Amino acid sequence: MSSMKVLGIETSCDETAICVLEAEGDINNPQFKILGNALFSQVKIHEQYGGVFPMVAKREHAKNIMPLTKHALGNAKLLTAGKLELSAEKLEKIKAILEREQDLYPVFEEFILNTVKPDIELITVTSGPGLEPALWVGISFARALGLAWDIPVLPTNHMEGHVLSPLLHSQEKIEFPALALLISGGHTELVLIKNWLEYEVIGRTRDDAVGEAFDKVARLLSLPYPGGPEISRLAADARAEKVTSSIILPRPMLKSPDLDFSFSGIKTAVLYALKKIPDVSENIKKEIALEFENAVTEVLIAKTKKALELYNAKTLILGGGVIANAYIRQEFKKLSADYGELKLLIPEIAMSTDNAVMIAIAGYLNYVTKHAIPETIKAQGNLSL
Ligand code: KG4
Ligand code: ZN
Repeated sequence: MSSMKVLGIETSCDETAICVLEAEGDINNPQFKILGNALFSQVKIHEQYGGVFPMVAKREHAKNIMPLTKHALGNAKLLTAGKLELSAEKLEKIKAILEREQDLYPVFEEFILNTVKPDIELITVTSGPGLEPALWVGISFARALGLAWDIPVLPTNHMEGHVLSPLLHSQEKIEFPALALLISGGHTELVLIKNWLEYEVIGRTRDDAVGEAFDKVARLLSLPYPGGPEISRLAADARAEKVTSSIILPRPMLKSPDLDFSFSGIKTAVLYALKKIPDVSENIKKEIALEFENAVTEVLIAKTKKALELYNAKTLILGGGVIANAYIRQEFKKLSADYGELKLLIPEIAMSTDNAVMIAIAGYLNYVTKHAIPETIKAQGNLSL
């Protein structure tokens, strides 16, 4: 099969990301090359509110998606000035699609009429899960581009993107059954993958997601949003300085017979511990960060181990923003070393947090396997695997 260029679009949460991915091969032997990649993180904007507000995220996506697209196309040498003839009827349709993203239409029109249609064969866009107002920006934009350029647009599951992101490196092979642990700001899931593109969620959090717990504990410690990197930095300092924690936190559901998780109890325990401490010094923060990271990691490892054994999994895939955490990565590497036969697939750090490349990878693999393009695309905030 010859190669094709795929435009990936991700706007599910607080990252606006666009990429041009060159892809070839079928699902058993895919090869990818990033030609252009542009990402804008809204963290600095959301920091002041201590979390992500969907309507603020939407506004920012709408503002940034066009410049990022130009940037990614430019990187890929696919941005060429020129006239594109579009019928008035088509322009009206495009306008209707972009109507709900108010400010987007004028810049879109200016771009589309003055740019040569690039050599792109597929557009893939995150349709869920995520914040619906944010998802809609990417979807409307993708549909408008697809219509203007006559390119198929494939909706893509964000979580599937996290699962398949390690395949960016062609030497990585998945052996089935595989297990994926997805840990992000919105999700904590153990997913059984019996075969290509066949997913079954076998464990999930009953309350907070792991990343959410990191963010909430960081907030209790007056650390900026997002809290994951802050906590992990403090915990790493504590480990380097051989600090031991005087604070003991629970390991919720560690021994429960199922594969579910619960993290809100750890956060509440931190809250109560802090109430007893009149002056929260930098050292106390380090102790709490260390103990929190230990508690979370222990539970994640124990449940993953249980699932690996239950399903005799041959590959373990880790994904989601929390996988950027150095200690968690290290402990999972130890776990896989303990199971000689187990293959561990972890995306590189930049591919662990939200990005468009994983959406292009997942979209391409679905496209070349199923050859199906749906008539319409809807944002699905609670889309599951
Ligand atoms: O996958 P992601 O970028 O967005 C979602 O889909 O949620 O994950 C973001 C989450 C945030 O909760 C953030 O605090 C967490 O990933 N995170 C980390 C680290 N870097 C990001 N958590 C722990 N340690 C880190 N180094
Ligand atoms: Zn994510």
